[in-house]
Order: sequence, then structure tokens, then C-alpha cells
Amino acid sequence: MKKAICPGSFDPITNGHLDIIERAARVFDELIVGVLVNPEKKSLFSEDERVEQIKNLVRNLPNVQVKKFSGLLVDLMNKEKASVIVKGLRAFSDFEYEFQMASMNNKLDPTKETMFMMTKAEYCYLSSSSVKQVAMFGGCIKGLVPDEIIPDIMRKINSK
Ligand code: PNS
Repeated sequence: MKKAICPGSFDPITNGHLDIIERAARVFDELIVGVLVNPEKKSLFSEDERVEQIKNLVRNLPNVQVKKFSGLLVDLMNKEKASVIVKGLRAFSDFEYEFQMASMNNKLDPTKETMFMMTKAEYCYLSSSSVKQVAMFGGCIKGLVPDEIIPDIMRKINSK
């Protein structure tokens, strides 16, 4: 039984994230989407809102669970008995940051491995922050995030 975790801020989840989650769910027996609780970072959605959004989007994937977490990722992994971290790798610029995190996690717990999946070409330059910026300035975010969450994003942005 291989259990993996796909961690992130998901503020908001993008089509690139969802694609990685769907592909990882086909590779591993069980997948946990770990939503980081980070009080230091100003977020558009609360952790509970993000968890609910993602739960709704993965409702047809029976081997995927969505959980919020704070503290170290390896601690969550030990609690959940997960051995693999799955991350999407977009442009070359992601490499240094991801290499640093993968090395640190492996140093903290050498029994954990990080595996990267190449982001689909159409999502290579997509990020949660660019989605927020585009939405904030009135641009179209269709095709960048799941259709179901577009009204939530617009409501949040218009209320700020
Ligand atoms: O979507 P993000 O913001 O790039 O995700 C970053 C995340 C959640 C994967 C990362 O910040 C994380 O794992 N945070 C938990 C703290 C931790 O374990 N740090 C040690 C590794 S550097």
C-alpha cells in the first residue's frame, strides 16, 4: 500500500494543482492533499474554505483525502503513515525551491521521498498568485482554475 501526500497552500487551487492530484491518485493507492495552515501568510481563503473546495473537487476520487496541517510536513506524513511527497514541477525556475524543500524533508526524515510530476505544458506558467492578480484586475480566470470555484474567487476579491 503506497500512500502519498500532495502538500501545498492551494490559495486558490489551480487547474495545474488539480491535474497533479488526479495523476498522483492514479499512481498511488492513497493520496492525501495536505493544505498548509500558515498564519504568517495573508491568504484569500481560510484553510477550512480551501479544504472544502478541494474536497468538493476530488469527490469522485475515492482514494483521495483532504486534510489541513500545520507544522512540519514530515510530522503529518508520520502521523498518516505516508512515505512519498508528490509535487508538480513547472518551469525551470521551480527547481531550486523544490530541490531545497525536498532535501530538507529528506534530511528531517530520510525515510521520506519526494517525487516530481511534470506539470502539463498548458499549466506551466500558472500559479495561485497569478490567478489572484489576474482576477483582482478584472482579467478572465476561466481555464486557469476549476469552474466551480470561480464564483468563490470573484466574491472574495470583490469583498476586499
Ligand atoms: O504551495 P506552496 O506554498 O508552495 O507549498 C509549500 C509547502 C506547503 C509544501 C511547504 O511550505 C511545506 O511543506 N510547509 C510545511 C513546513 C515544513 O515541513 N517545512 C520543511 C520543509 S522546507
